[in-house]
Amino acid sequence: MAERRGDAFQVVRDSAPAETYRGAVVGCGRMGSTIDDEHIDMPNYPWPWAHAPAIIEARGIDLVCASDSDPEKLADFRRRWGTEALYTDYREMVEKERPDIVCLTTRPEPRAEITIGLAEMGVKAIYATKPMCRTLAEADAMIDACAKSGTILSIACHLNWYSYYTKARQLIADGVIGPLKSVVCHSASPLSNIQSHSLALIRMFVGAPAKWVIGIIDSDERAASDDDIPGSGIVVYENGIQTILNARVETIRSGWAIEFIGETGRIISRHAHSQFEIQSPHPVTGAPTRTQIPGPWHPRSSMVDAIEGVCRSIEKGREEICPGEFGREALEIGITIRESHRRGNVRVDLPLEDRSLKMGNP
Ligand SMILES: NC(=O)c1ccc[n+]([C@@H]2O[C@H](COP(=O)([O-])OP(=O)(O)OC[C@H]3O[C@@H](n4cnc5c(N)ncnc54)[C@H](O)[C@@H]3O)[C@@H](O)[C@H]2O)c1
Repeated sequence: MAERRGDAFQVVRDSAPAETYRGAVVGCGRMGSTIDDEHIDMPNYPWPWAHAPAIIEARGIDLVCASDSDPEKLADFRRRWGTEALYTDYREMVEKERPDIVCLTTRPEPRAEITIGLAEMGVKAIYATKPMCRTLAEADAMIDACAKSGTILSIACHLNWYSYYTKARQLIADGVIGPLKSVVCHSASPLSNIQSHSLALIRMFVGAPAKWVIGIIDSDERAASDDDIPGSGIVVYENGIQTILNARVETIRSGWAIEFIGETGRIISRHAHSQFEIQSPHPVTGAPTRTQIPGPWHPRSSMVDAIEGVCRSIEKGREEICPGEFGREALEIGITIRESHRRGNVRVDLPLEDRSLKMGNP
């Protein structure tokens, strides 16, 4: 179980991208630029979270340009980050500045069109915030366009890069809780927007695509709409692992908790990823133990780790931590929970045939 990582300098060196890439932001609002202003006086909150300052802090990438259709957002972006190459049209930005990696932080409505445009213009990687888009057809088209142009498509469900979850995955691989059997996620959040974080994270832990879903929505009226709504359900994956989503919890953010349950123990993340506990048998006596998860080697913002991860994905030629397929599956599970409810809470197999189904706000 002892973990050999080598000397710290070596870990720092080996985790850095080999090259330095030209980075861009498209969509200079909260997620692209300003969201950290909302988290002043929160010492448990690992800054930076907005994409622009995360690019500035990350190794292997320089922030060279940005685009927003609103000139006032661009002026604010220049004031905050000192970027001079600013464009109201992302296509002109790509033509003139040739960014390698584009952080795509608009709201969902224009995401598919811009992703496809960027892929066709040959950018190396797109790091697109969640939810991936609104319809399954859009998600399919985004994945196809990036596959065709060889563009890495990475979805910014950045918990997938959060070092506590990386540590938890390593503990599971080391056998600390035995083989993973099920995951239970408590969250009252809407399925397409915030629950995409949970579903992409669970997909990474499970290591197999979702196979079928049963869902319950609190009211038929809500289930009849295309709004982003909370929902409970069961998801069964191709390798037999099950996830249970429980939406009947406190509506405050700290109600968010995830339990990874193995054959002999469990790892629990509580209070919106701020507390991590392991319950497992003592390795010698077998007595039940409860401990805090050991801190990561260098705790820092998952957004910075994610952006460095996208740089390394370019070098590897593939995205493994949160590819477009995880973003699409998160959206598809949310839609299928609602679809199951609409059909009388029955089992619905994936993939859904009707790719025009949609969920979420524009
Ligand atoms: N933790 C997270 O991962 C997290 C947190 C907050 C928001 N988000 C996501 O970020 C996305 C954006 O949310 P927000 O709150 O930042 O919205 P916002 O409205 O503050 O920012 C969106 C920006 O995109 C710009 N824009 C729209 N169309 C454009 C185009 N064609 N080209 C360039 N710019 C364009 C708008 O002018 C605006 O400035 C949402 O999908 C949201 O779910 C993610």
